[in-house]
Amino acid sequence: MERPEPELIRQSWRAVSRSPLEHGTVLFARLFDLEPDLLPLFQYNCRQFSSPEDCLSSPEFLDHIRKVMFVIDTAVTNVEDLSSLEEYLAGLGKKHRAVGVKFSSFSTVGESLLYMLEKCLGPAFTPAMRAAWSQLYGAVVQAMSRGWDGEDRA
Ligand code: HEM
Repeated sequence: MERPEPELIRQSWRAVSRSPLEHGTVLFARLFDLEPDLLPLFQYNCRQFSSPEDCLSSPEFLDHIRKVMFVIDTAVTNVEDLSSLEEYLAGLGKKHRAVGVKFSSFSTVGESLLYMLEKCLGPAFTPAMRAAWSQLYGAVVQAMSRGWDGEDRA
């Protein structure tokens, strides 16, 4: 896989990283639109959410949004040496498999990430930036995929 262009990544992340919760909420609202079956995977204190809106307003879920945005922020910071995150991301993949996430759902997360960047940046989100983000996200997901090694990835 080609390496993402660091300057394009940093430049496009600047506006998003100023308000991670707001943009992370756009990402997850889109994710639940595209794949509503992901909603039941989020349960805190055994409580099931009745709707995406219910989930998106729960403090525990907002913490998950912050965690996701922090991982992406860390990938941006380390864009020139993503291999330094490999062990951490493999462990993160394992945790997600354990909570019932299918590996294939991570491509919907990628689509939702691109959607959020486009919403945030508008026309400033160039095709070259989109390509750089696809490469960065692809590298993150590849490292997380080790959590499903030897398992059914369907
Ligand atoms: C298919 C989409 C996803 C689902 C259904 C999902 C679900 C979950 C669940 C149920 C937990 C445990 C409860 C919690 O900590 O809130 C969790 C933890 C976590 N997730 Fe996700 N997640 C998804 C995507 C992501 C992505 C894309 C990232 C980052 C790139 C991420 C980062 C994290 C982190 C950092 C934790 C905490 C792990 C720990 O406790 O060490 N998640 N996720």
